[in-house]
Amino acid sequence: MKLNYRRTRLTPALRNLTKEVVISPDKLIQPLFAVEGLSKKEIIPGLTGVYRETETSLLQQVESDLEKGVHSFLLFGVPGHKHECNFNYDFTANQITAIKKRFGSDVFLSVDVCLCSYTSHGHCGILNDSMDHVINDQTVEALANSALAYAQAGADCVAPSDMMDGRIRAIREILEKNNLDQTLLMSYSAKFHSGFYGPFRVAADSAPKGEMKLKDRATYQIDPANPTDAYRSSVRDMEEGADILMVKPGLPYLDVIKDLTTKIPLPWAVYEVSGEYAAIELMAEHNLINRERAHLESWTAFFRAGAEMVITYGARNAREWLQRN
Ligand code: PBG
Repeated sequence: MKLNYRRTRLTPALRNLTKEVVISPDKLIQPLFAVEGLSKKEIIPGLTGVYRETETSLLQQVESDLEKGVHSFLLFGVPGHKHECNFNYDFTANQITAIKKRFGSDVFLSVDVCLCSYTSHGHCGILNDSMDHVINDQTVEALANSALAYAQAGADCVAPSDMMDGRIRAIREILEKNNLDQTLLMSYSAKFHSGFYGPFRVAADSAPKGEMKLKDRATYQIDPANPTDAYRSSVRDMEEGADILMVKPGLPYLDVIKDLTTKIPLPWAVYEVSGEYAAIELMAEHNLINRERAHLESWTAFFRAGAEMVITYGARNAREWLQRN
């Protein structure tokens, strides 16, 4: 007898039957950016087909995404006025209300909880007077208040991406106190201090800016060289009451995805971040790779490594790309 491993690869039907990883739009989450004060939607360099939306174009975009089989979204609200503290969450809350009023339970709406689009300096929290440190507990209080505002506006899920200590417990407690025990909590529990967030920071107007000692997010996001920190932080967030955990970015952290999804028994999301997404888009623009195949291959890697869901800027293209490839 000769071993023949090629028999199961012979036809598309056989390859489909034997596939271990099956991708579907049901497993993908589409990020949305709603920007206060825009008169026209704007393109985002590197993120083809994703826009900084106006209040009106946001609803049109969700409608067209639903037609393409996408039901899950991650909303980023970008307010027009920035502050150092005492933030106003109304703009984002109003977008949530508008989406839920129009689409109801057809849409699973997660909302990013962070302050980097709200602060004048672009950091994810409230700074001390010398502007060299993010004050943890004061920031957590503001984050919990914003999560409450989003949940009361109708968000199905709140997703803190700030990386402060104790925010999951604080958010879970404030939700429970306000009888919002059905609201899911998705923690960016393994979020690394990555160089791949560039295009996003343009989209969300959230890069650290201005003259200050604290130049980057290294004092709150996880060091790429410390997988144990990612494990410890994820266990903590599970214990504090998260429903879903996340690894972010995706491709440079496949080992972390594999390891954490094996060890920690919660549903896992992977965020294919703006820089990884844009890398594929830019290579494709130069005819160096096939865009659709490269995106599908990246998503396959996330599921193969153990993710249950993937947050990707390309969710709205998935059905089309899957049909063609
Ligand atoms: C905000 C936040 C960031 C992303 C999601 N939420 C950027 C950052 O931490 O600077 C990145 C997403 C992406 O790059 O696609 N805290």
